[in-house]
Amino acid sequence: MASEAEAAAAAVASPPLCASTDAKSFLELISSKFEWGDLSDDIVMDIGCGNPKIKFCDLLLGLFPKVKKVIAIDKKSHLIAYIKCGKKDPKIDFEYGDIEDRSTLENWEGKISKVVSSHCFHQLKDHELAFKNVYNLLKPGGEAALLFCLQSGYVGWHVDLVNDPKWNRYYNASIHLWFIQI
Ligand SMILES: C[S@@+](CC[C@H](N)C(=O)[O-])C[C@H]1O[C@@H](n2cnc3c(N)ncnc32)[C@H](O)[C@@H]1O
Repeated sequence: MASEAEAAAAAVASPPLCASTDAKSFLELISSKFEWGDLSDDIVMDIGCGNPKIKFCDLLLGLFPKVKKVIAIDKKSHLIAYIKCGKKDPKIDFEYGDIEDRSTLENWEGKISKVVSSHCFHQLKDHELAFKNVYNLLKPGGEAALLFCLQSGYVGWHVDLVNDPKWNRYYNASIHLWFIQI
């Protein structure tokens, strides 16, 4: 079985099977509805950034090229470690962070003006804790825009299996699921 580092390297090196097709329209919706402007004074945090090949951060920079800084966090530490070694846009900092573990987020508490997240929150176990942590990350007057499934048999089945000690040993870092808007 491949090590976590090997699996992370393979995931980043190979083309994505599919990228979230709704990410761009989500960002465009934010841009118009929330009147976010050019974000030149804003530090934006992307929660659950995933594999950079997914390009959510690129879409963000494409739509808001003047953004001050993007902090992209993910709880897959091996993936973040791998991304940090590669070439990346200087405006994006990829960092380890678990939105369900406040101790990993302390450095940014009260410093983030916008939180965005795409296709991550339906994977969480404790939504109340995650929302509290988002609140603590935000500066006064900060805003959050989160894209996730409220109800999906497919996602629910996957999360149950990943969290089940009997079955989760059959999952490893080389298995990735990509969600397609139908
Ligand atoms: C389906 S991917 C979505 C990636 C990307 N944001 C997109 O829109 O395509 C979900 C990501 O959320 C991350 N994730 C899951 N739980 C998390 C948590 N508690 N804190 C931070 N990231 C988390 C996973 O590791 C994974 O990389």
